[in-house]
Amino acid sequence: MDAHLDRQHQFIPWSVQSTQDELVEIAGGQGVTFWDSRGNRYLDFLSQLFNVNLGHGNRRIIEAIQRQAEQFCAASASVMHAGRTRLAQRLAELTPGDLTKVFFTNSGSEANEIAFALARLGTGRQKIFAKYRSYHGTTLGTLTLCGDPRRLGLEPGPPGSVRFFDPYCYRCDFHLEYPSCGIHCARALEQQILLEGPETVAAVVVEPFTAAAGGFPLPPGYLRRVREICDRYGCLLIADEVICGFGRTGEWFAVNHEGVVPDILTLAKGITSGYVPMGAAVVRAKIAEHFETRYVPVGCTYTGHPLACAAALAALDEYEARHAVENARAMGLVLARGLAELRARHPCIGDVRSQGLFACIELVKDQRGREPLAAFNTSPPVVGEIRRQCLQRGLYLYNRWNLILLAPPLIIGEEDLRKGLAILDAVLLGVDAAIPS
Ligand SMILES: Cc1ncc(COP(=O)(O)O)c(C=O)c1O
Repeated sequence: MDAHLDRQHQFIPWSVQSTQDELVEIAGGQGVTFWDSRGNRYLDFLSQLFNVNLGHGNRRIIEAIQRQAEQFCAASASVMHAGRTRLAQRLAELTPGDLTKVFFTNSGSEANEIAFALARLGTGRQKIFAKYRSYHGTTLGTLTLCGDPRRLGLEPGPPGSVRFFDPYCYRCDFHLEYPSCGIHCARALEQQILLEGPETVAAVVVEPFTAAAGGFPLPPGYLRRVREICDRYGCLLIADEVICGFGRTGEWFAVNHEGVVPDILTLAKGITSGYVPMGAAVVRAKIAEHFETRYVPVGCTYTGHPLACAAALAALDEYEARHAVENARAMGLVLARGLAELRARHPCIGDVRSQGLFACIELVKDQRGREPLAAFNTSPPVVGEIRRQCLQRGLYLYNRWNLILLAPPLIIGEEDLRKGLAILDAVLLGVDAAIPS
């Protein structure tokens, strides 16, 4: 397709529309690889957008969608269908603790909107606390509540949005070191809740592995502390697992690493392995009970769409059949070792961090001083150059500011993992050469 036409009648999200960066036009894919309309092949180290966890061209999911399409494609939100009921039951079984009732949506943004709405309605309180380095979606409510600077042009957001400092250990906002800090950032969160008035705080929302807004996992112990704080003040804990859910971090859900049960777990992306749009907010029994006798004023036409439910049920079968979560854990160790080797070889790498098959490489101008290669919320030419160089060599990944995020399909094997890391190695040699020594 003509590159000019690509841009003529459609918006390209998260970009200056006139940007000269060439777009990849996908023509097909199989497993961890996809190819474009010119025949170039790419190792998909981003699972498209953190969602194609089971890889491209999965027959079980495709055929499930086809079968459902033949049976019926549309069902009203208030008409039941067996696929939706079965999927809700499976999610209730799969998610930890007494997370038992599912509100289906079409995206992660909607799942978070619903979570925020249920938290406010359920507690009768207004405020939602979100981390400064967080992204919870693209709707006005989720974008202006989260901390990601994409919110800035759209502010003010909903009244009652409060932001708190992150457990971002590589660049601690409190200039402390983990673990001797005693997780001071959690203490600071508690203090902030006290100052805001706990009786006004409906919920605290966290991404268990911060994605685009920072690329870091929560340090061990942090989420348990936040759980305790929420319990102490009667606030709900919302875990945004839109990316982390369904095995990305080597557990079915990232909260499982800490044995924490959030009050609301939000999901999307991997739920259908990205084959059909779907999101979900799964709530604990006590929240479900609250609404037994109260009106639920939120919903969407396509809640639990038949094609999405069919895709999700097939995806869940496939996660199990392929031992995808176990593979994410095992390959995560290979990835972590590979990243440590890269860190040792490249002066431009300040930090590497990963959990399962979710990883971040943080680039710096100097390792000792930790000056970012690209300052927060800036995109100097080197950022585009890294992306271009990777694409030219057949590697598809996510980079923003001074962060490179890696999230290959959970079915990846060691050989492809090493192939991708070798491409990165070559590209980063160029970055090393460009930074002042
Ligand atoms: C952590 C997180 N939450 C929510 C969202 C929004 O999901 P969606 O793009 O499906 O609306 C995203 C999207 O990338 C995300 O990374």
